Amino acid sequence: MHCARVLVLIVLLVGLVHCFNWDIVVGGNKQLEFYHHGTLTHTENIPSAIRITSVTYDPVHYRLLFTDYNSPTMSIFSFDLSTRKIQLLLTASSNYYPRAVYDPVTQALYWKDYNRIYPMSLNPASSKKADGNVLVKLITGVANYPYDLAVDSCGGYIYWVAGKELGRVRLDGSEREVLINETVWLRLSLAIDQQTQKIYWIEKTHDGDDHCSIESANFNGKNRTTLYIVRNTRYAFSLAVSKDFIYWQNFEQEGIWQLPKSETATAIKLHSMSSSSCANCNRVAVNYTIEEQIQGIKGCNALQGLISNNSKSESTVSICQNYCFQGECSVSAEGRPTCSCKAGYSGERCEVNACYDYCLHGGVCSLNKENKRVCQCTAGYEGERCDVSICNEYCLKGNCSVGADGLPKCSCTTGYSGERCEINACHKHCLNGGVCSLNEEDEPACQCTAGYDGGRCEVSAHKDSSCDTGNSGERTVSTCHQFCLNNGVCSLNEASEPVCQCTADYEGERCEVSVNKDLCCPKVTTVTVTLSQGVQSTCASTVV
Ligand SMILES: *[C@@H]1O[C@H](CO)[C@@H](O)[C@H](O)[C@H]1NC(C)=O
Ligand SMILES: *[C@@H]1O[C@H](CO)[C@@H](O)[C@H](O)[C@H]1NC(C)=O
Ligand SMILES: *[C@@H]1O[C@H](CO)[C@@H](O)[C@H](O)[C@H]1NC(C)=O
Ligand SMILES: *[C@@H]1O[C@H](CO)[C@@H](O)[C@H](O)[C@H]1NC(C)=O
Ligand SMILES: *[C@@H]1O[C@H](CO)[C@@H](O)[C@H](O)[C@H]1NC(C)=O
Repeated sequence: MHCARVLVLIVLLVGLVHCFNWDIVVGGNKQLEFYHHGTLTHTENIPSAIRITSVTYDPVHYRLLFTDYNSPTMSIFSFDLSTRKIQLLLTASSNYYPRAVYDPVTQALYWKDYNRIYPMSLNPASSKKADGNVLVKLITGVANYPYDLAVDSCGGYIYWVAGKELGRVRLDGSEREVLINETVWLRLSLAIDQQTQKIYWIEKTHDGDDHCSIESANFNGKNRTTLYIVRNTRYAFSLAVSKDFIYWQNFEQEGIWQLPKSETATAIKLHSMSSSSCANCNRVAVNYTIEEQIQGIKGCNALQGLISNNSKSESTVSICQNYCFQGECSVSAEGRPTCSCKAGYSGERCEVNACYDYCLHGGVCSLNKENKRVCQCTAGYEGERCDVSICNEYCLKGNCSVGADGLPKCSCTTGYSGERCEINACHKHCLNGGVCSLNEEDEPACQCTAGYDGGRCEVSAHKDSSCDTGNSGERTVSTCHQFCLNNGVCSLNEASEPVCQCTADYEGERCEVSVNKDLCCPKVTTVTVTLSQGVQSTCASTVV
């Protein structure tokens, strides 16, 4: 939006919009300083900042984005120049000076800490999570720190300088290439200019030199030219290129240097800045409009598409232009731009997406008929925000995973089975009241009640001496008496020994073993008798 026009419209009102002209803005430790023709026009205090390490400008939404380093963490903030609101966008752990550059085409910020470049969408319509994906991991080594980033919005590249290396990669992380890789000591700071179709950088030949040089090359790294030797400085940094000038800072002297782009013989030092020096920073951002950047340049449809078509009345365009992120803008009676947000968006400039980060674990957010957020969860999650794993408390004794069908699957610990590992190997293992426990090999073992033995307590121990209902110890009827269990039919063989013919459900010498799949107790009618020792015993009552 054009400050001057807003000023004309509302200067007699209550000063709702804070206007100041600036051609460069310089980050300090806890403030942003705005300069116009070398004169300080405004200082914005940023109380939550510790050391601002880079500043980048979004001319479409008229805001600054800046990184702050507060070891062991870093933060990224936005400063809305229309409303003067400061917003924290991200906090991450960091062991190195972070930098960020903004690309208005993808509406994304590309930031780095030590040696990784991360994309971060600032498009309110994007439901993608802000950070986490590494776009590029840069090589690092002695004196090989990745110092700075620049974005080529027309070509769709991120450029970097890391030690002696100058490279680029597509915004999706593909086609990574090193363009310049000669022995210099450091390449410190980087800028890109669509107007001249050049990359600009600062380099230093040897450690201990007291000068740096400002270099340029075509986007492909060819046609290298030294534009200016910066004398009496160990480090020159904070390179920025505007419509007419190249700017930088010197480590030893506070202040901003300015070199005309067209005639690179004479650099002048602008009015001294109150900001302290920071050789690891890129603290200068310039007011370089998109119109100016691509004036006379053919083939940059990406930036051309961001320029308003001026279809609305002049005054509405000037105040409302790009003001509302996701909504319609109108001018209020007081001359203020006012947004009427699309469903699902809120905030003064419709910058808050209700769906943003709402559904967890990759769930897809949408609005229902009542404009309420609803999540469509990925396999394995449920709950209003897909916050509950379907594995949660599913497997009783084992690990859970989500199968291809989206259902939970258990992998049971030894000794357990069943869909939810709810079945213990002891389950129904010991017969006749035997007590089951798992041995060292996690195999079930039975401790039988008196009168039974066998691996599963299936054998009656009173085969010969018990259960005679008459005089104990005397077999008065027949050796077949009560010999076969479970309706087995008893007969004597040639040696006068009892032999059983079992029913289909039983086997064993006395038909004592159930062949039933459910391993249930022998289905026998039982009688309980009291033996002389006073021990109770349960026997089959089937009599031949
Ligand atoms: C930024 O630059 C443009 C073009 O030179 C100018 O019209 C505008 O007023 C400047 N903005 C501010 C806030 O100074
Ligand atoms: C850069 O140059 C060095 C030698 O100076 C070489 O070892 C290295 O492989 C080069 N890197 C790339 C990416 O070309
Ligand atoms: C090489 O760079 C110089 C200086 O920027 C410029 O004048 C010249 O036209 C460039 N040549 C090519 C072929 O790009
Ligand atoms: C301008 O108009 C073109 C063609 O009609 C359209 O594709 C583009 O999105 C418009 N740009 C803006 C910022 O409205
Ligand atoms: C369950 O997961 C743990 C940790 O990954 C592993 O050590 C253990 O072996 C797993 N148990 C089974 C039964 O898969």
